[in-house]
Amino acid sequence: MRSVIDILDLSTEELESLMATALDIVARPDDYADACRRKKLATLFFEPSTRTRMSFEAAMYELGGHVISMSSAASSSAAKGESVADTAKVVSCYADIIAIRHPKEGAALVAAENADVPVINAGDGGHCHPTQTLADLLTIRREKGSFEGLTVGLCGDLKFGRTVHSLINALSRYRDVRFVLISPEELKVPSYVKRDVLKKQGIPYQQTTSLEDAIPELDILYMTRVQRERFFNEEDYLRLKDSYILTPDKLRRAKADMSILHPLPRVNEISVAIDADPRACYFKQVLNGKYMRMALILMLLKEAGTI
Ligand code: NCD
Repeated sequence: MRSVIDILDLSTEELESLMATALDIVARPDDYADACRRKKLATLFFEPSTRTRMSFEAAMYELGGHVISMSSAASSSAAKGESVADTAKVVSCYADIIAIRHPKEGAALVAAENADVPVINAGDGGHCHPTQTLADLLTIRREKGSFEGLTVGLCGDLKFGRTVHSLINALSRYRDVRFVLISPEELKVPSYVKRDVLKKQGIPYQQTTSLEDAIPELDILYMTRVQRERFFNEEDYLRLKDSYILTPDKLRRAKADMSILHPLPRVNEISVAIDADPRACYFKQVLNGKYMRMALILMLLKEAGTI
């Protein structure tokens, strides 16, 4: 059974085809309104979420399907000690496809290994978040037309930020992309990502602590939240939480056509004064996420022979 746990589970051709489907949905939503009629998506969210969960739900409704979900981890059988493996087996009896978010790295993979229906990873701890990357890719494609030759700045919590890990994996497949990794010393991109992706493929990247120094050369600036829930102690979080705040003043040195992305939720990283700037793309990114999740649900249900 085909599941999507890591962005690497999708080939470059599949990424392209998902973007094409998403754009077709934007152009002709009525053609898709019954595509998943009477099919059910189960959302299993063991961690807080607003947009990812609602985006999956809206996606399934717009495909004519239904959604079943548990209201919270605390009110599910996980609170009684049920394993992720058992929950996945049980939910496979009710749903045609599952989207799962869990605080433990690897939990989505365990779910996929035990489910009888396709499983989509909606975020596993600090590991990866492939459907956010689908949203990011479509946003960059729509803003820039292409990925080739882009200088992409990733700023903030690059250690625990799972969206960053998946995005590096995806963009590294395109020609002449280079990364500027902007973070405090303590929150650098994990060495396994540098070793297995950037160094292994010879992708150019530089690391810096200064957003001000990096900003003039960027085509994309991907801001992230410091991931409070993954810190071992509160003092470290408090010390690092406001490391980077994008303000209109800092933006003055950026290219006139630099795109600003953020997976959201935003805490302090982007001043609200920037929301009206034409370079701010983070709310468009939310909408793009829904279309890409529609495209992914369609692809997996077709492959499973469900639709
Ligand atoms: C991200 C996540 O959950 O990793 N949010 C999201 O899904 N859009 C980013 C974050 O929580 O900071």
